[in-house]
Amino acid sequence: MDAKSSPETRVKVGTISGGAGRAMPHDSGHLHVTGGAAYTDDLPEPRDLLHIAVGMSSVPHARIVSLDLSAVRAAPGVVDVMTADDIPGENNCGPVIPDEPIFAPALVQYAGQAIFAVAATSVMAARRAARLASISYEPLEPILDPLTAVEKESFVVPSETIRRGDSRKAIDSAAHRLSGRLHLGGQDHFYLEGQIAMALPREDGDMFIYSSTQHPGEVQHLVAAAIGKQSKDVVVECRRMGGAFGGKESQPALIACIAALMTWKTGRSCKLRLDRDDDMIMTGKRHDFVIDYEVGFDDSGRIQGIEFMFASRCGFSADLSSAINDRTMFHCDNAYYIGDCTIVSHRCKTHTVSNTAFRGFGGPQGMFGIEYVVDDIARYLGRDALEVRRRNYYGSGERDVTQYLQTVEDNLLEEITGRLVETSEYETRVSDIRAFNEQNPVLKRGIALTPVKFGISFTATHLNQAGALLHVYTDGTVHINHGGTEMGQGLFTKVAQVVAEELQIDLERIKITASDTSKVPNASATAASSGSDLNGKAAQAAARKIKKRLVRFATEYYGVDAAEVEFRDNAVRVGAQNVAFDEFVRLAWAARTSLSATGFYRTPKINYDRRTFSGRPFYYFAYGAAVSEVVIDTLTGENRLLRVDILHDCGKSLNPAIDMGQVEGGFLQGAGWLTTEELKWNERGELTTHAPSTYKIPACSDLPVDFRAEMFEPGRNREKTIYRSKAVGEPPLMLALSVFHALRDAIASVGGEGCRPPLTAPATPEAVLAAIEAVRSARASWFALTSPSPDSKENA
Ligand code: MTE
Ligand code: MOS
Repeated sequence: MDAKSSPETRVKVGTISGGAGRAMPHDSGHLHVTGGAAYTDDLPEPRDLLHIAVGMSSVPHARIVSLDLSAVRAAPGVVDVMTADDIPGENNCGPVIPDEPIFAPALVQYAGQAIFAVAATSVMAARRAARLASISYEPLEPILDPLTAVEKESFVVPSETIRRGDSRKAIDSAAHRLSGRLHLGGQDHFYLEGQIAMALPREDGDMFIYSSTQHPGEVQHLVAAAIGKQSKDVVVECRRMGGAFGGKESQPALIACIAALMTWKTGRSCKLRLDRDDDMIMTGKRHDFVIDYEVGFDDSGRIQGIEFMFASRCGFSADLSSAINDRTMFHCDNAYYIGDCTIVSHRCKTHTVSNTAFRGFGGPQGMFGIEYVVDDIARYLGRDALEVRRRNYYGSGERDVTQYLQTVEDNLLEEITGRLVETSEYETRVSDIRAFNEQNPVLKRGIALTPVKFGISFTATHLNQAGALLHVYTDGTVHINHGGTEMGQGLFTKVAQVVAEELQIDLERIKITASDTSKVPNASATAASSGSDLNGKAAQAAARKIKKRLVRFATEYYGVDAAEVEFRDNAVRVGAQNVAFDEFVRLAWAARTSLSATGFYRTPKINYDRRTFSGRPFYYFAYGAAVSEVVIDTLTGENRLLRVDILHDCGKSLNPAIDMGQVEGGFLQGAGWLTTEELKWNERGELTTHAPSTYKIPACSDLPVDFRAEMFEPGRNREKTIYRSKAVGEPPLMLALSVFHALRDAIASVGGEGCRPPLTAPATPEAVLAAIEAVRSARASWFALTSPSPDSKENA
């Protein structure tokens, strides 16, 4: 077969087991459920292993006046102690800007910041010893919320603005205007496996690190810099993470650097495993936001112009906040043409833990903003919210240019929405719900359909590259490695399916191996949902290189034309002969054919100028829509998710089973963010919600009673992605905006015409109850105002 023939045009029917597009189980599924999957903490421990505990700041902003660690040093089991002064290289674990120290030097900037580490012979000995430090501080004024930061112009990176046309004029000349301030909470990743790293000394000062990380290459570079070595001296490996969700994109560097530094200092293997409370206190979360908006629109609800001000809590350092807040600005249109606009984004420096990537990477917060605005417009006009949403959808051929000047070429939302309205019986249910609410004074139902349009690619163009390494052994089995990491999302399975498809061999013949900086160098983080897009293509390129060599071998060995060589069914057809794949590669090896190859991929078409925020940051968009129905108890604010219908676009899915898992899991994680998960800091800057006792993620019982998720068929990416699939890791999270708006809809039924419930996110029972009370008292005072009568005061 011609190695260049396009697989997109080739239809294979049921030949090999586990090719592209098959619903195969996760490669480690059987290990996950039997306890056989080795996470970093399960790896065999070296004989001399030391355990590390971290000493943290108890105040949010202060100068360290004195640091006495003598009691720590003298505690039972303690082998060594270290502070910023002991670091041989750079005291930094900041991924983009070197503004994040590993150990606080003289200044502490959040309650929970690492000041020192202690290594002992057991975990408990280390943790007990860490508490014995005597530290005195000279307190400084902390900034603990984004609005104060804006007021004081305290930013981690400069504010940014996207401007199109004259938003002021557009708003002023519109028939209607609305404005508001929204509060949107953050989110803890709550991965099941906490942050962990184990460092092993190798000869001559080299270091081997096991790290639970989405970005082994970055851990390698930062560890090397911290211990005063170079990248070549450090190897980082990660077979799998027990969940990451963006929380292990930059955060593992701190953990790995501490483990590596302690190994450098003691010459012994060292492991740092944070316990849950410390993990929640010490490591970054999703950014919470304050969003101000002003919008002008016509009688039909169509937006004429809009102004947004986004202020996000970034914490004390820049981390990935620049790119995250850029993505907020890129997604504050969601599915809608927003007309003339001014979008201002403040990246607020606060004296709290540095906030970081979380599924959606700032996109969900931008989408939360515009969905709230569109919902407000509909409620103000007394129109059906879905009708107003559709009225504002991007058009095709007109009203199809985003605020950053990328044309939306692949819009599927009209089609997706149309189908979902039918399959979910949206119209009937809306009237059923209205009838239900008429009859029930206490329980109220609500429904909402919200769309998702999510841009796929790293907005930093240079990150859109990937490498792979593929070996074929003489028994016809294959070893595949690539720069991506496995966090439960099924990337390794999907990439192996690509290789199976390319070589036309069974999936069982392919060994999926740990991410390893010595096999594939300089890999980007597995993030931005691009894992399978990038690494799938890189693996395909490697497989095609080897195939090309094998075809050349066949032409020479069998004396046939290249066109007479075809890979199929675990075999290679050469003219009239059919040679088993293992036999064929053994012959190729004997004829001295190289059976190992690297593959490389860079995403085409994308280019974008960060100075002007314009161009094509995204290769394509992923789409979806969801209808959620809820019931609330208006006396307590308690609520239930009754039914959810999802229609999501995965392109031509590489693995429908795994992709459906992402759709359902992403949705529920989004529902947790918007309804039950609440982060609270007290006035001393301490995070008070740092364990499952006070921080509530969704449980099985929070699943919708009736959950119907479907894939958009026949999906097909119009761009030439790997087998025309689409990224699916993050987009479904934002389908959960429908839950928030269903709650808002239910609350609105308590108020009168035009009622816009002031619901904050997360919409916890308390927040729902507060919104109900606000709506009720507004209604009461509205009656008081509009129907003055002698006894109106008593009524109010
Ligand atoms: N799914 C599971 N099970 N666990 C995870 O940690 N992370 C999400 C998503 N799905 C995550 C997950 C995030 S934040 C991203 S960016 C993508 O997976 C990354 O993987 P992909 O690019 O291979 O989709
Ligand atoms: Mo995902 S937030 O891009 O790791």
